[in-house]
Amino acid sequence: MTSLSLDSAPTAALDADAIVIGVVPADAGPRPAAGAEEVERALDGRLASALQALGATGKAGEVTKLPTLGAVTAPVIVAVGLGDEPGPEELRRAAGAALRALAGTARVAVALPAGSAEETEAVALGALLGNYSFGAYRTGEQKSPVEQITIVGDGDADRARTLADAITLVRDMVNTPPSDLNPEVFAETAERVAAEAGLDVEVLDEKALVEGGYGGIAGVGQGSANPPRLVRLAYGHPEATKTLALVGKGITFDSGGLSLKPSEAMDWMKSDMGGAAAVLGALQALAALRPKVNVIGYLALAENMPSGTAQRPSDVIRIYGGKTVEVLNTDAEGRLVMADALVRCGEDAPDLIVDIATLTGAQLVALGTRTTGVMANDDDVRAKVVAAAERAGEPSWGMPLPADLRKGLDSAVADIANISGERWGGMLVAGVFLKEFVPDGVRWAHLDIAGPSFNKGEAYGYTPKGGTGAATRTLVEIAEDLAAGTL
Ligand code: BES
Ligand code: MN
Ligand code: ZN
Repeated sequence: MTSLSLDSAPTAALDADAIVIGVVPADAGPRPAAGAEEVERALDGRLASALQALGATGKAGEVTKLPTLGAVTAPVIVAVGLGDEPGPEELRRAAGAALRALAGTARVAVALPAGSAEETEAVALGALLGNYSFGAYRTGEQKSPVEQITIVGDGDADRARTLADAITLVRDMVNTPPSDLNPEVFAETAERVAAEAGLDVEVLDEKALVEGGYGGIAGVGQGSANPPRLVRLAYGHPEATKTLALVGKGITFDSGGLSLKPSEAMDWMKSDMGGAAAVLGALQALAALRPKVNVIGYLALAENMPSGTAQRPSDVIRIYGGKTVEVLNTDAEGRLVMADALVRCGEDAPDLIVDIATLTGAQLVALGTRTTGVMANDDDVRAKVVAAAERAGEPSWGMPLPADLRKGLDSAVADIANISGERWGGMLVAGVFLKEFVPDGVRWAHLDIAGPSFNKGEAYGYTPKGGTGAATRTLVEIAEDLAAGTL
């Protein structure tokens, strides 16, 4: 594991295999940012001109490497662009981009602007997240992540470490091939995490799910040789006055079922458990951060496969609590497993429910690959969840749940159908479906992370290819807001 330390003495940082500094744009060319003073001194004030000669501009994400030729102990300077007026998220991204460019280096010192405890934490988190790699399935030579990271700054890195560990867990789970992470293995992982973190945990297996009346999870899972699970995790604080329920979609592979997906749409469906993984990661972090709030997490786990035992389009299933659903398309499976867990979480008398799911392709159409869609049954909750995500540095946007979309879900035979006759606004339709299963009178928000949970493109900032860990920090922030009484 990477070691992370803080050092308020910038001179010592020069003794590393590489030193990271910031660059900001200025009228006269690139300017070294706060934190780089010691390096500038060591180079006798030639740093800015060297950066300019190498074409550095200071724009966000730009990485320029300079050899020090013996001027300082570190043989390499990595100058990373910060853009104009960098805030915490820009610092996280810059630190992440620098660390990605330094894979294979042993000891890295990071001397980015870290004048406040918040900035120090941002730099530390970005560095840890950028240093992520998933090598479990590679043989032969590979660049190892940086072993020792020293952040130049005051404050403490405990929170950064806690969040990075949680996000690493989420990324690893999303990246793990579905053959090695089926619902059973996911539940075992949750049990291990719970034991280590001191969380209560309960697992319902396929038999308990059928007997308990969880028709959504059982129905989606019945086509697979790998049976479904429902996991309940609980974090408690003795002085808590509020309870948050988190509900995550955990489809360990979504083939579409009998409503089979085309091949191109299937290759990233191992990531269809990103919501459940984010709930598990958030609970792991909360157990360490210990805010004064109770948090219950539900992981709705199933593998959606076609087979002779799979549910058929036109089957009617009974969700926990009794409501019936006509399954007209077996690929709209997420909402079925989520419905069971949403109803069930009402038994914990939560003050707020937040569900998180890679729910719709329509989320990607509406908001693109990086922005989470936030829907809610309460305008204030939606605004505050969007604000919490913003503080966490995770892009999100509030979306409506138009009441008129409900009629498209009318079924000829059951209480509701799982797809709409109305083609447009698919992300909102899914939200409208879920709303039907939210316990009466409970404030609720729904996060659609279909795009953000998995990066099919190139790595950027602290975000790698593949599993991103999206919304994990937002969930932690929401729990802390409920603890603080601001949500
Ligand atoms: N898991 C998918 C949604 C998804 C798509 C996530 C792309 C990430 C990337 C979900 O189960 C699904 O298949 N949704 C369908 C719903 C439709 C049948 C109403 C979709 O969005 O196409
Ligand atoms: Mn699907
Ligand atoms: Zn799905």
